[in-house]
Amino acid sequence: METTPSESSSTPSTTVPKKKQGLGWVEWLRGWMYIIYEMLFQRIMASHLENPLSLPPINNLTCIVTGSTSGIGLQIARQLAESGAHVVMAVRNTKAAHDLIHKWQSEWTGLGLPLNIEVMELDLLSLESVSRFAEAWNARMGPLHVLINNAGIFSIRGPQKFSKDGYEEHMQVNHLAPALLLILLLPSLIRGSPSRIINVNSVMHYVGFVDTEDMNVTSGKRKYTSLVGYTGSKLAQVMFSSVLHRRLPAESGISVLCVSPGVVQTNVARDLPKIVQAGYHLIPYFIFNAQEGSRSALFSATDPQIPEYCELLKSDDWPVCAFISQDCRPTNPSEEAHNIDTAHEVWEKTLEMIGLPSDAIEKLMEGEEVRCRYGERQE
Ligand SMILES: NC(=O)c1ccc[n+]([C@@H]2O[C@H](COP(=O)([O-])OP(=O)(O)OC[C@H]3O[C@@H](n4cnc5c(N)ncnc54)[C@H](OP(=O)(O)O)[C@@H]3O)[C@@H](O)[C@H]2O)c1
Repeated sequence: METTPSESSSTPSTTVPKKKQGLGWVEWLRGWMYIIYEMLFQRIMASHLENPLSLPPINNLTCIVTGSTSGIGLQIARQLAESGAHVVMAVRNTKAAHDLIHKWQSEWTGLGLPLNIEVMELDLLSLESVSRFAEAWNARMGPLHVLINNAGIFSIRGPQKFSKDGYEEHMQVNHLAPALLLILLLPSLIRGSPSRIINVNSVMHYVGFVDTEDMNVTSGKRKYTSLVGYTGSKLAQVMFSSVLHRRLPAESGISVLCVSPGVVQTNVARDLPKIVQAGYHLIPYFIFNAQEGSRSALFSATDPQIPEYCELLKSDDWPVCAFISQDCRPTNPSEEAHNIDTAHEVWEKTLEMIGLPSDAIEKLMEGEEVRCRYGERQE
């Protein structure tokens, strides 16, 4: 019988599985096909949904919405407030947010009680700003029922840029800063339990890949493009959310979800070449407006069956968190998102990068203090 080289060698060799360096071409092709399918058929798939989505009574909810001065986040904040929720617009441009509130209040006059909406400053390009925000919110000692991590960037065709914390900007704004925010806000989410964390993600994560040894894409192993930055950050968010979903005990009553808003006409396309932007405007049939794009997040924030669904996934030991599609139906995130080993590496690496200890969740669940490198102590 022939032997393999390792069998014939005198010293038994321990074969270390080779670390995946990127998506296989079949996975990559399947990812793009899924994205194109979604783009072409999203309107048909979502044809059963009303626009705007009608929401159940939510007068008792307090919701934080990041990036609510534009696009999808603006619609989410406005519709939650008009349905009675106490809404906190967590934004970097506070003047723009105050101007919006002024406009919304005047248009709402005569339709009901004044909107219960306020503004707090949050710049996701600064982890210190995130920490300061969470500290200010937690100091109120009130409940938080819904955190919507909506703010995001896609600097299409832009050069590789780094935050003052030293992280690639897509990774910081779309994944690291929202991750820090949600962990630091856990004490308030526990007070608001049953509560929900909604991460506005993207189908683009289907073509994303995360190399945990090269989160900034600077090693030269992969060529940086804004697409690599964006899709990697969105995949990192799904993986981190999945580990969080499994780590949070059922008793915490906190549901963790990622949602896809669909392909939506917003300012996210501001960096597209003019000619492509023109094309974007020419095909309104396929592309959602911001109100349509807000439906999956609003559904996930308010549908009464969501906590039960998340619990079911947990009790079935499902490897990923709930992922709600643009048509408000549960769907499966990408194949790579199911890679449990990488997801755990993403979890560990993220905590290290945002300056939190690896047992942060367990400590916060026990009501202990957790220190963050980027701010004062958190309770
Ligand atoms: N549009 C789509 O087709 C699409 C598809 C899939 C997923 N998404 C996701 O949907 C989310 C919302 O995007 P959008 O399409 O509504 O885009 P948008 O119109 O550009 O809105 C993005 C929001 O994020 C805020 N933001 C950006 N950088 C920030 C920072 N450093 N700190 C705090 N806030 C910051 C922006 O604030 P400023 O106004 O101050 O810049 C803005 O309010 C993003 O996570 C995006 O990735 C969008």
